[in-house]
Amino acid sequence: MSFELRNVGLVHPNGQRALAGVTLSAARGERIAIIGPSGAGKTSLIRILGASLRPTDGTVNILGLEPWQLAARGLRQLRSRIGVVHQSPPIPARQRVITAVIAGRLGQWPAWKSMLSLLYPMDIAGPREQLARLDLADRLFERCDRLSGGQLQRVGVARVLYQSPELLLADEPVSAMDPTLADQTVNHLVSEAATRGVTVAASLHAVDLALRWFPRVIGVRAGSILFDLPPVKISDAMLHDLYASETGYIPTQDNRPLDLHEPGTPRVILPSHKV
Ligand SMILES: Nc1ncnc2c1ncn2[C@@H]1O[C@H](COP(=O)(O)OP(=O)(O)O)[C@@H](O)[C@H]1O
Ligand SMILES: [Mg+2]
Repeated sequence: MSFELRNVGLVHPNGQRALAGVTLSAARGERIAIIGPSGAGKTSLIRILGASLRPTDGTVNILGLEPWQLAARGLRQLRSRIGVVHQSPPIPARQRVITAVIAGRLGQWPAWKSMLSLLYPMDIAGPREQLARLDLADRLFERCDRLSGGQLQRVGVARVLYQSPELLLADEPVSAMDPTLADQTVNHLVSEAATRGVTVAASLHAVDLALRWFPRVIGVRAGSILFDLPPVKISDAMLHDLYASETGYIPTQDNRPLDLHEPGTPRVILPSHKV
């Protein structure tokens, strides 16, 4: 088991309820997309899975441990086994790309190595390889504040793949990329997870990306899970329900019409492994 949430609820300090009665588990190596309208609770859910936010109700088990029963040191160790791609990567503006990628591993290294590597990159080949596969090899020594939002998001992806966590979480990781790049990047992330047998859970704004690349898609609305299904079982009606759209609006990349295949036709294209 990679994670297990039982009856999880979350009320933010201002009284705003973000999640209610969420029960959800994933076996090791599962690839899960989380979709739903803005404000549905996707980010809250990802943060609970990342052991960075403590729910107000229910129990949480991540990688075999209950994060909120652990002492500080245990919690830190658990978090170092989890990798998160943020929508806006929290990267210091003047930091160089290589340092940002290396930062992915700092939690796993002894303190002396972490501190030294902030001054002096202690590994160049590793970060370069991850960046090259995202078409950013020539940006290795660039300052992060010279990058576009989409490039910065790809640095976030390179960082998490370099970190090589046991549980990989991503919160709208490609929201600032154009459709082609977003598609390639999600493909890369999911293929890498599949190759390594790593569990991945990613929230996505665009439904087409979720249906194309993930064998399991969870629809979240108003803090609860509406469906948890393989893409072939997801109907147009369920998506309209999820987005509660009287206008028929379902968010896709570039607002392309959603190509829902005939029922029973596999819609998940198996990721091709790049060599
Ligand atoms: N830090 C916070 N403080 C108060 N309310 C919050 C906070 N973060 C999120 N919320 C509220 O919780 C609900 C779920 O938000 P969120 O998890 O960010 O949804 P999503 O990522 O699907 O847009 C929303 O109603 C949002 O306004
Ligand atoms: Mg969000």
